[in-house]
Formats: sequence, C-alpha cells, structure tokens
Amino acid sequence: MRTYLVTGGAGFIGSNYIHYMFRKYGDEIFIINVDVLTYAGNPENLADVENRSNYRFVRANICDKEAIRKVFAEYDIDRVVHFAAESHVDRSIVQPELFVTTNVLGTANMLNCAKEAWELPDGSFKEGKKFLHVSTDEVYGSLPEDGGYFYETTPYAPHSPYSASKAGSDLLVKAYMDTYHFPANITNCSNNYGPYQFPEKLIPLMIHNALEGKKLPVYGDGKNVRDWLYVEDHAKAIDMVCEKGRLFETYNVGGHNEKQNIEIVKTIIDILREELPDSDPRKAALTYDLITYVEDRKGHDRRYAIAPDKIRAEIGWEPETMFREGIRKTIRWYFDNEEWMEHVTSGDYQQYYDKMYGEKKEIG
Ligand code: NAD
Ligand code: DAU
Repeated sequence: MRTYLVTGGAGFIGSNYIHYMFRKYGDEIFIINVDVLTYAGNPENLADVENRSNYRFVRANICDKEAIRKVFAEYDIDRVVHFAAESHVDRSIVQPELFVTTNVLGTANMLNCAKEAWELPDGSFKEGKKFLHVSTDEVYGSLPEDGGYFYETTPYAPHSPYSASKAGSDLLVKAYMDTYHFPANITNCSNNYGPYQFPEKLIPLMIHNALEGKKLPVYGDGKNVRDWLYVEDHAKAIDMVCEKGRLFETYNVGGHNEKQNIEIVKTIIDILREELPDSDPRKAALTYDLITYVEDRKGHDRRYAIAPDKIRAEIGWEPETMFREGIRKTIRWYFDNEEWMEHVTSGDYQQYYDKMYGEKKEIG
C-alpha cells in the first residue's frame, strides 16, 4: 500500500485529486491530507471521504517544521504531492509577503522534512520515494498574442508576486534535485476549472455572479488568453507523473484549449441560459448586458499556452475532457451544489469581493 502525504488537499485541485485517487485506487492507497484551512481550504470538499479508514486529515501549516516532521515520523510516506499554496494572483498583488511565506518558505520546509525522512546515511535516498511539486505555467511569464508556447525549456519570467513565489518554490525543488539528487518531479500546469473551485477565480466567480444577477467584471479588454484544463485531467496527469515520470524532470500540463476571457464569460452565460428552465426567474436577467469591463489587473499577463508534448510522448497523458463538455459539467455541478456556494460566499467573502471589486473603475 502506497502512502501519500498530500498538502493543500482541502483546496480546489487538491480535493479533486484526492477524489480521483480514491476512485482509481480505492483501498490500495493511504492518503494523509495536511492543510491549514485558509479561506481556500474547505473540509466540505472532502465530506465524502473523511470517514474512510485509509484517509487522515491533519490540520497543520506547511511552514510548521515540528508539525510536518511529526507527520513524516508517524507515517512511512512514499509520495508527497505538494499542492498547498496561496493561489490567487489578485490577492498576491495586495498581500505579496504572505505568498512568499507560504509558497517559498512552506515549500522549503516540506523539502527539508521530506529529505530528512528519506535520506540514507550515505546521502542517497530510500527506494521508491518521490516528491511531486505542483506548479503553474505562470512561472514562464506571458506570451505574445500571435503565437508561441511554453515548453519545459522556456526560461522563467514571472510577473506577479504569485508567479514569482511559485517560481521561487520551483527553483528550490530544482536545487534539491541538482544538489542532493532529491527524488522529485515538477509539474507546471495551465488554468484549471471544475467542481469545488473557490469563486474568486474567473469561472466560478462568473457563474456565481450570473446566477445572482450581478455584474460580470471583465478585466481590461477581455482579450487575455488562458489555456483551460478540466481539473480531473490535471489530477490524472499528476498521478501519471508520480508513477511514470522520470526523476528530476519537469512536465508541462495543458489542455491545448486557449480562450479569451470574454469568450469564457459569454459561454458561461449561454450555457446557464440553456440549463435554466424557463420558469426560473433568474433566466430573464441572464444576458450579455451583465458583462462589465473594469480596470485591468496590474501586470496582467496577456497569454498563456502550454505545449504538453513531453508528457504526451514520455508518459502517454492527454487531456480527455473537451471544453464544452467540461464547462457544462462544471456549471451543472454548481447548480447541484448551491449550498456549497452559499457556504463559501457567506462570512468573509462579501468583504473580499467589495474590497477587490468595489474600487475597480468601470471602463465601458
Ligand atoms: P486553492 O487556493 O484552491 O487551495 C490551496 C489549499 O492550500 C487550500 O486548501 C489551503 O487551505 C491550503 N493552504 C494554503 N496555505 C497553506 C499553508 N500555509 N499550510 C497548509 N495548507 C495551506 O489552490 P488550487 O487552485 O487548488 O491550487 C493548488 C496548487 O496548484 C497550487 O500550488 C497552485 O499554485 C497550483 N496550480 C493551480 C492552478 C489553477 O488553475 N488553480 C493551475 C496550475 C497550478
Ligand atoms: O495559469 C495557471 C494559474 O491559473 C494558476 O497558477 C493560478 O493559481 C490560478 O489562479 C490561475 O491564474 P489566473 O490569474 O489566470 O486565473 P483567474 O481565474 O484569476 O483569472 C483568469 C483570467 O480572467 C485572467 O486573465 C484574469 C481574468 N479575470 C479574472 C477575474 C477573477 C477577469 O477578467 N475578471 C475577474 O473577476
């Protein structure tokens, strides 16, 4: 039985990954989820696995050396799958230091604790151990509108405090691989969407606002491009890299699914209109008139696009969910889980929203 230490498992991708892993491996694996439960961590995301005998939740900060050491001392960990991070670019612009603390220092602590637990007296590492660091395509910076892709060899050129802190964490993992031959892989993935995503990110925010009849705030000219991947495809890629990835390698993960933001927002409105019955009073208000262009994000990267050639050629991973299918599944999930949305948007969310969007000027 393989034992996994998953960090940040109560967040969006982490919880989807844990669901995916239990669906795939059932009782053949043991998962310990270490999460401090920031605003983005939600135990509700894992309500249906919490009573499994092969699952444990440990509430701890990845920066807390003693707490992380204790997990390694208690369990013989085979895989670390490291998701925990501050993940929202807009928040990083307001609170950059928190991103450095969690993403850089937290990753350093995770690496140190794993190294301590796995290193043998001769400086080599126990057989079969691996640290998988989950990172982002944003470390590569921004592409021109008219072409180009991010490859594993593309130089790092992060722009936001978020992407700079993720780049810092990637470089630490690379340093551990180069210096100690620490058994690790890095994955750099494009924008994910799907169930359990917190409504600060584009897709769930637009779904939530549209259903509430609120304005849909599109930054700048709405023509920034992101490469969207259904979250389950990302979970599958992580699992495949864990099992088949060559040690010390980086793998880019992406959907070959580039879309301008405005196209995403219009698609959400179209699908919501198709899915809502005529009798639903929200339907009449759901038109493109809700779209409001607002002041741009500072330092807004223009275009991201991943070349997933290496992971396809070496590991055989390919995205399986087409965007139209994935976005419809996602919207249906939010319809079926209105209570989940109510819970995450009560409390501090309104304050966050007012602060982040209240000050943004409309630009047409
Ligand atoms: P998220 O914000 O939804 O979840 C982050 C999780 O980490 C939360 O459960 C939170 O409680 C936990 N966490 C935060 N700080 C912590 C700390 N100090 N100690 C312990 N736990 C802590 O993030 P996400 O969107 O699920 O992203 C997960 C990872 O994937 C991140 O590393 C992110 O950089 C990366 N990533 C995200 C995307 C995307 O589109 N969302 C794409 C590529 C890579
Ligand atoms: O590329 C991978 C990255 O994707 C991950 O590493 C990050 O963790 C994740 O948050 C995401 O970053 P983005 O900044 O691309 O995602 P976000 O959903 O915040 O924004 C997507 C695009 O939509 C971006 O161009 C900004 C724009 N946007 C976003 C919001 C929240 C709007 O126009 N309006 C909005 O209200």
